[in-house]
Amino acid sequence: MDNKNYYITTPIYYPSGNPHMGHAYSSIIADVFARFKRLDGYNVFFLTGTDEHGLKIQKSAEKNNKKPKDFCDNISKIFKNLTKSLNLSNDDFIRTTEERHHKAVQFLWEKLESKGYIYLSKYKGWYSVSDEAYYNEDEIAEKDGKKISTVSGSLVDWVEEESFFFKLSSLQDRLLEFYNKNPKFILPITRKNEVVSFVKRGLKDLSVSRKSFSWGIKVPNDKKHIIYVWLDALTNYISALNYPNLKDKLFKSFWPATLHIIGKDILRFHAIYWPAFLLAADIKPPNRVYGHGWILSDKEKMSKSKGNILDPLEVIKIYGLDQLRYYLVKEVSLGNDGNISDKNIENCINSDLANNYGNFCQRTFSFIEKNCKNTVPEDIDFNADDLKILNSFNNNIDKIRSLMDNQQLNEYVKFIIDKSSNANKYFNDEAPWNKKEDKKRLNTIIYVSLEIIRKISILLLPVIPFSANKALASLSLNTKSLKLSSITDHHINKPGTKIINQGILFQKINNKE
Ligand code: ME8
Ligand code: MG
Repeated sequence: MDNKNYYITTPIYYPSGNPHMGHAYSSIIADVFARFKRLDGYNVFFLTGTDEHGLKIQKSAEKNNKKPKDFCDNISKIFKNLTKSLNLSNDDFIRTTEERHHKAVQFLWEKLESKGYIYLSKYKGWYSVSDEAYYNEDEIAEKDGKKISTVSGSLVDWVEEESFFFKLSSLQDRLLEFYNKNPKFILPITRKNEVVSFVKRGLKDLSVSRKSFSWGIKVPNDKKHIIYVWLDALTNYISALNYPNLKDKLFKSFWPATLHIIGKDILRFHAIYWPAFLLAADIKPPNRVYGHGWILSDKEKMSKSKGNILDPLEVIKIYGLDQLRYYLVKEVSLGNDGNISDKNIENCINSDLANNYGNFCQRTFSFIEKNCKNTVPEDIDFNADDLKILNSFNNNIDKIRSLMDNQQLNEYVKFIIDKSSNANKYFNDEAPWNKKEDKKRLNTIIYVSLEIIRKISILLLPVIPFSANKALASLSLNTKSLKLSSITDHHINKPGTKIINQGILFQKINNKE
């Protein structure tokens, strides 16, 4: 039997400013996978949260004249509220300022130390506070008289201070062997290649503590040192499972993680440092790290300094939540960067949701109301055309599962919307309004249409949960008990059941040119 447990995570976000569309994007993507797997009968654990220590946060708090903890409490709550506004199905929300997390980080540190991976020395080199990252000399350039990282474009400072180091260099070969044995550990594959060549160029030992500020978790045996915020942050993925209690049910069921969803900006930390820490501590690395692309606004990465931040709550207010979720999943190709603009969103809502899926549901329900006393018809007899369209779902269930297991999310949505176009074509071609003399044929067409609505709506549940639930509620179906596998059946709607149309699913948007 394959493992029926599925553990998926988002990055834990810095509560240094309010959440924006980029954060919403990672969280929505992860939510779609989590919901799909639950629908397919898996035990899912879906984690998100906030990353609250380090100099970046300390400085943001100072700028706002707040104590770091008060500052974090406030913004972390806004991130937590966003999980509700996005209708995320997360099982936990972790904050790195929580006691359970502190304990886990200090335990992991002691483990690494006892295995001989930690030593005291001095760090001399470049550091970016905004990325909380160390950069090599060959990753630095000068711009407008200032030093920046060529990797991220962020400003860097020269740092010289006593620091504990992690023997990352000693893990180079084990990492390369690990990538080799697990060819899908890093996806998409182009990103894997970047990581592998970076590691092959040679890894230096990593500075894992800082002395010049205080906001963080203390090194267990040297309280003057604060643990490097990335060693702290990455540990959230296991502290939420009650590490270091290896016998804990959560840890036993869900570690190693199935999938860490992250943006490509933090790939190095997740694909190199994280498995290195874990290998050094004799803990299995996660199964996969997927580094998605960036949401661009006006073709540029959103950032506070550029002033082009998109607020997800604003977009939801204008277009609706499911509309936003659908757009991000369908129109942004998961591994690549994607632009977001009003025109694109409006076109997408109209063509796929209002005029396609929504229209198919609405025309079917209206027809039933007028011609079938608003009940699921009986006395049906499928012909070859009916079976062809119905079977186009069950014949593809393995493909559907494999698309989702390989994070081919756009293909998944395209598959569904293609089925919805076929359904509209079927309805037009069969023209039930011309079959009033042949009651049996009319009933069959309508029954087939209802089954298609059911199948498509089940497939859409992970992407647009409110709307797909609404369509299923119109069929008087209990969505809680519906499983993905039920799309292989053509007889779930019971003849005689009342259709209770819950109303139009998506308003068409009048494009204002
Ligand atoms: O890096 N497009 O937190 P962070 C798409 N705390 N995704 C975006 C995005 C954009 N324009 N901007 C941000 C951190 N993201 C660390 C993570 S994990 C152990 C610690 C998403 O608040 C994307 O997932 O800077 C990116 O990796 C993450 O937010 C960075 O969030
Ligand atoms: Mg960032």
